[in-house]
Amino acid sequence: MPTITPLEGKTFGAVVTDVDLANLDDASWNAVEGAFHDHGCLVFPAQHLEDRAQIDFALRFGEMELLRDDPEALAVAVSNVKEDGEVYAPDEMRYRTLRGNEGWHTDSSYMPLAAKASILSAQVVPPAGGETAIADMRDAWDELDEVTRKRIEGLSAYHSLYQSQAKLGYEFETGQGYGYHTKGAPLRPLVKTHPVTGRKSLFIGRHAYAIEGMAPEAAQELLDELLIFACAPQRTYLHAWQPGDVMMWDNRCMLHRACPYDYAEARVLRHTRVAGDPASELVETGRDDRADDFRPTGTNR
Ligand code: OGA
Ligand code: MN
Repeated sequence: MPTITPLEGKTFGAVVTDVDLANLDDASWNAVEGAFHDHGCLVFPAQHLEDRAQIDFALRFGEMELLRDDPEALAVAVSNVKEDGEVYAPDEMRYRTLRGNEGWHTDSSYMPLAAKASILSAQVVPPAGGETAIADMRDAWDELDEVTRKRIEGLSAYHSLYQSQAKLGYEFETGQGYGYHTKGAPLRPLVKTHPVTGRKSLFIGRHAYAIEGMAPEAAQELLDELLIFACAPQRTYLHAWQPGDVMMWDNRCMLHRACPYDYAEARVLRHTRVAGDPASELVETGRDDRADDFRPTGTNR
């Protein structure tokens, strides 16, 4: 049976050992799924999963998101090097995507259907930096002062990848990659109730760019303040990768980001993403002026 060791001194996260993710029996799977809901983030050292095994593990949690226009591409590389070993240049789209990942975010909040879980495995890690950081949004809500809680309950923010990348000076065109769509920007409550545990958490991050019914500057200020509070060091864990490690997190109640490193050094991870449940992660979309050919779609996926 898996050994589940909570991260020391943290409100979230656990290291899972005595488990082989490529060969899970029912009892082990149940323990892993339970730990996922309890801890929000799980680290599985030294798994060395093949592509297919990582996909099969993701599929246990639910339907997967297709991150490229290729039905075979259920696992994608999060990598700063091309097939031939050359690193991406700053004017290339992939470089900009990686730089974007360095801001606190939750995956696919800019899609009508947000993500349930993301699973990363490490193949090549740089000699310094390049950790992945996770922050506990359940604790952020629990520790928020009463005045702010009252102020934000009932508020909703629009999420857009066009908008978060534009803040970094990166203009993307519609159709250029996952997330650059014409379905409009989803409107998501700032306070999310977890569909399984019932716990409340802050649902924010870099893709949130406007609050319904609020002036843009005031909204941005509030979102920035909340993010700084929420991702304070006592609520974060930094995973320093070893090749073969697997880490997963619950996008419904955790934020994450990549830590900087020397982009001349190779860093190669593999990402599989589990879709949210339509009952709890599918929301209405509104206008996103940065998408060309904007088409209002309601709950279109
Ligand atoms: C991602 C992501 C963080 C990292 O793959 O969605 O944000 O550390 N990755 O590469
Ligand atoms: Mn991400």
